[in-house]
Amino acid sequence: MNSDSDSKKGYLWAKSRMPILNRIVRKYSKSKILSDFKLGMCLHITYETAVLVTALSRAGAMISLCPANPLSSKDHVIDYLHSEVANVKLFVNNREDYSSFYKNMDRVLDTKPQIITDDGGELHKKAILRSQNVVGGTEETTSGVNRLRMLSKDGKLTYPIIAANESIMKLLLDNKFGTGQSTIQGIINTTGVMVANKRIVVCGYGWVGKGVARVAKGMGAKVTIAEVDPLLAIEAYLDGFEVGPLEKLLANNDIFITCTGQFNVIGRDHFHKLKEGAILCNAGHFDVEIDVNYLNEMDPSHFDPRPNVTCYHTNRSQCKKKFYLITRGRVVNLVGAEGNSPEVMDISFSNQFLAIVYLSKAASKMTNRVYRMPKKLDKKLAQLVLAEHGVEIDSLTPDQISYFKR
Ligand SMILES: NC(=O)c1ccc[n+]([C@@H]2O[C@H](COP(=O)([O-])OP(=O)(O)OC[C@H]3O[C@@H](n4cnc5c(N)ncnc54)[C@H](O)[C@@H]3O)[C@@H](O)[C@H]2O)c1
Repeated sequence: MNSDSDSKKGYLWAKSRMPILNRIVRKYSKSKILSDFKLGMCLHITYETAVLVTALSRAGAMISLCPANPLSSKDHVIDYLHSEVANVKLFVNNREDYSSFYKNMDRVLDTKPQIITDDGGELHKKAILRSQNVVGGTEETTSGVNRLRMLSKDGKLTYPIIAANESIMKLLLDNKFGTGQSTIQGIINTTGVMVANKRIVVCGYGWVGKGVARVAKGMGAKVTIAEVDPLLAIEAYLDGFEVGPLEKLLANNDIFITCTGQFNVIGRDHFHKLKEGAILCNAGHFDVEIDVNYLNEMDPSHFDPRPNVTCYHTNRSQCKKKFYLITRGRVVNLVGAEGNSPEVMDISFSNQFLAIVYLSKAASKMTNRVYRMPKKLDKKLAQLVLAEHGVEIDSLTPDQISYFKR
């Protein structure tokens, strides 16, 4: 059990590893640039999120916050936020289920936020359904952006949204390098497996899949990619990975990691073909990539041999096999580990901070659609990170700039 001082230490450790956000907040806290704004936020409840909300609060914002996943909230962070952070209303239950999860979103919206920051698009969807008066929003993850783009296409968005996810800095540092590392960490934490020499299948070779495959290969695993997009499949192949259809990989691989944003990627037709003792997990945002409902029907006597690991038996009498599902099919890096490292979340949340400040000034001139993160802000963040690491780069000479204009 964590004491108050342990919780505070956890927060201070995360903060000390987030220098870029600290630098940005120093700039904006003097002018209290967000002092007229109420923010409604739906994010994973981690120490890094505590650092972000504290930063926004220092810039003058009033914040209400609920979790972006029913299982990812850490109790010690909840305790820390309740006791230490002013200007933040926290709506979270220590034992969250789906009913309290959605109720807590409503409680955030009841505070009438003008800017909404979401991770997954659920809070945005609710705000739109409730015809809430919102000036603008930001979205943290690929699955959320995909949903919001659909709403935008159908003319259903009622406020402009910045896809904070779609900045090169976020995709590179968080989706690829950050989630790549923390996903493998989640698998190791929950199961204790040795990665070297395992046969691992990564479903999806987008930003997250590339990161997961890279880390697994670096640790000595034999990695195969299952993709549906021929362009990404060829990239995986040229990057040196085996590529193949999932169906043909089920019988001879040890670990399967879904990173697609799609549903039922591993479903009822697949489970009985798995190798005995195979391990399944998901790094995508929603717990729909592995058909967990079917698994629970298929084997009602499933059990947890250790925390966050569930053992299932196939129900075919001819070939009864067991296999394991980690963290009930929910984001393995957040439920089975601590999520992305503070250095990574420093970039994601600096990005969020800049997007919120941008919206606070520009939302009234924007239309109700999904915007990419402005390129200028992306480059600004990259410059800050390079400077922080002491990395110098070249710049174009005036002649070279005019050469482009010829
Ligand atoms: N766990 C985390 O911390 C974390 C961090 C960032 C993003 N995410 C989530 O991870 C998921 C993937 O994000 P991304 O940024 O890599 O998206 P992306 O769009 O870059 O990549 C997804 C890839 O999956 C492929 N795909 C789709 N359906 C497939 C299928 N049935 N079989 C095989 N491949 C399939 C697509 O072709 C695409 O290449 C999203 O749900 C996103 O929200 C999670």
